[in-house]
Amino acid sequence: MELESKRIIVSGCARGMGEATLNAYVQAGADVIGMDINSEAGQSVTEKAKIKGPGKASFIKIDIANPESVSDAFREASEQLGGLDALANPAAIHRLGDPSDISPDDWDRIFTINVRGTVLTNQAAFKLIRKSGGGSIINFGSISGLRPEPGSAAYSATKGAVHSWSRTAAAAWGKDLVRVNAILPAMATPMYMEANKKMTEEAATASYWMNHRSIALGEKYGDPETDLGPVMVFFASDASRFITGQLIPVDGGQASTR
Ligand SMILES: NC(=O)c1ccc[n+]([C@@H]2O[C@H](COP(=O)([O-])OP(=O)(O)OC[C@H]3O[C@@H](n4cnc5c(N)ncnc54)[C@H](O)[C@@H]3O)[C@@H](O)[C@H]2O)c1
Repeated sequence: MELESKRIIVSGCARGMGEATLNAYVQAGADVIGMDINSEAGQSVTEKAKIKGPGKASFIKIDIANPESVSDAFREASEQLGGLDALANPAAIHRLGDPSDISPDDWDRIFTINVRGTVLTNQAAFKLIRKSGGGSIINFGSISGLRPEPGSAAYSATKGAVHSWSRTAAAAWGKDLVRVNAILPAMATPMYMEANKKMTEEAATASYWMNHRSIALGEKYGDPETDLGPVMVFFASDASRFITGQLIPVDGGQASTR
């Protein structure tokens, strides 16, 4: 019950790392609101987590890219929770695309969700967490934001933006004891599997050598429940109270041993 009495919002809870994070928080005793644009799957994930307990879970629909949707969802969540102590923010989309032919519409769409969505949810969370006397915002960056990724040009640029935003927000909000970190994961999730399926054989082979083979721990992507969940609990808990502005790879060594 490391998170007993913590009030937490998890974006992108309908699947992947959002689902694993919500499950980990409820198992650690927190009172959690899951949010996602996909209501049906989001409801089902939170319902199952609530039944298992010992913490609580409920669902509110959100489009993180839409300012009104974010302010309505966070207002409703803070009323239900009686305040806010932490936000975990994995919601995002991935698009493959070569630097020479990515369209302005695709560029705008992925930036609107991955970058504007991060800024809007962070701002809404900051105001609430500051009122609680401090807490934690956990964004999601990527190794894609650290290195050139010719196959995912726009996605990679969004993750670089999330890294700098997280550091800037950490610098600005530290005086209010609101810490902001970014997890850089390598986990087997639907996003990762869908991206792989859309690749040509040549791109998939290149991706294998660039991504799998550079994971020192077993040369394979992690499991969101067992490899990420406990880290997310740590970053939402007071045990991480002196860590902010960091880019934290949870990737079996992919970022630093490649
Ligand atoms: N899978 C990996 O190995 C990997 C690697 C590096 C970084 N990441 C990052 O980790 C995070 C989680 O990735 P994942 O693999 O669990 O993704 P996923 O695609 O499995 O899940 C993303 C969730 O976000 C939701 N979502 C998308 N757009 C939304 C919107 N506008 N408003 C609200 N919800 C929305 C989706 O419905 C989905 O439930 C993402 O930020 C991703 O970029 C993933």
